[in-house]
Amino acid sequence: MMELLNRAYAALKEKTSITPRLALVLGSGLGDFAENMDVRDIIPYDEIPGFPVSTVPGHSGRFLLGYLGDVPMIAMQGRVHYYEGYSMQQVVLPIRLMGMLGAKVLFLTNAAGGLQDGMQPGDLMLIEDHISSFVPSPLIGKNLDALGTRFPDMSCVYDKALREIILKTAGENGISLKRGIYTQLTGPQFETPTEIRMLKKLGADAVGMSTVCEAIAARHMGLRVCGISCISNLAAGLSANKLTHEEVQETANRVKDTFATIVKASISAFFEQNELAD
Ligand code: HPA
Repeated sequence: MMELLNRAYAALKEKTSITPRLALVLGSGLGDFAENMDVRDIIPYDEIPGFPVSTVPGHSGRFLLGYLGDVPMIAMQGRVHYYEGYSMQQVVLPIRLMGMLGAKVLFLTNAAGGLQDGMQPGDLMLIEDHISSFVPSPLIGKNLDALGTRFPDMSCVYDKALREIILKTAGENGISLKRGIYTQLTGPQFETPTEIRMLKKLGADAVGMSTVCEAIAARHMGLRVCGISCISNLAAGLSANKLTHEEVQETANRVKDTFATIVKASISAFFEQNELAD
């Protein structure tokens, strides 16, 4: 795995001279975020050896490297999902690569079903913690000692200082932000109402099919992590609607400007803080 990563890293290094300080994963609804960036290099995933290329035709995805204001960053336009049939180690390869390129902060975004009382489709939720127990760990297998320790601590996955900056930034921009616990399930099927009742009892506020494995791989490497979910629908059984991918996309699309604003303003605020300056 480390040889694979090193080969992919070398290929990526050849295609860009930017050393990103921040890595951003663009979930549903943030696909247009690149409009906010001064994009210098576009690297399609299929140009990187060993990269898990999406099984959905025309959706292979790509890395965007450039600047947000004066912050050098890398964004993933299109992520890799476990339900596509890749191993968890393959799913987190892009996250590891962004860390190897130099990113110190990982900003995760996604669309999710909402479980918390009072949630409405279109709400944004700051991720405060996660439940990983329903998906295999991306750290299973021989430990990659070059990246991190065998038994990494997960007592504060979502960086407290970053969370505080995001909440403050939301307030300053008049954006209301829920807070809660995100759970990753494998998918691709949506949950049953009974599964949602179970997840609710376990303390979950949002459910989706990504993000948690990425956060774990990033913490393993020592990256600081934060994340926001777009609540695209109420989870199964909590509304009269059947769940569809179209509803997820429609809602994500409706709130994309607000979502982009909070992400953009938060990133700028992160790097105004001395502790993040290097
Ligand atoms: N469940 C799982 N994943 C999702 C959902 C959901 O309700 N909405 C968006 N992604």
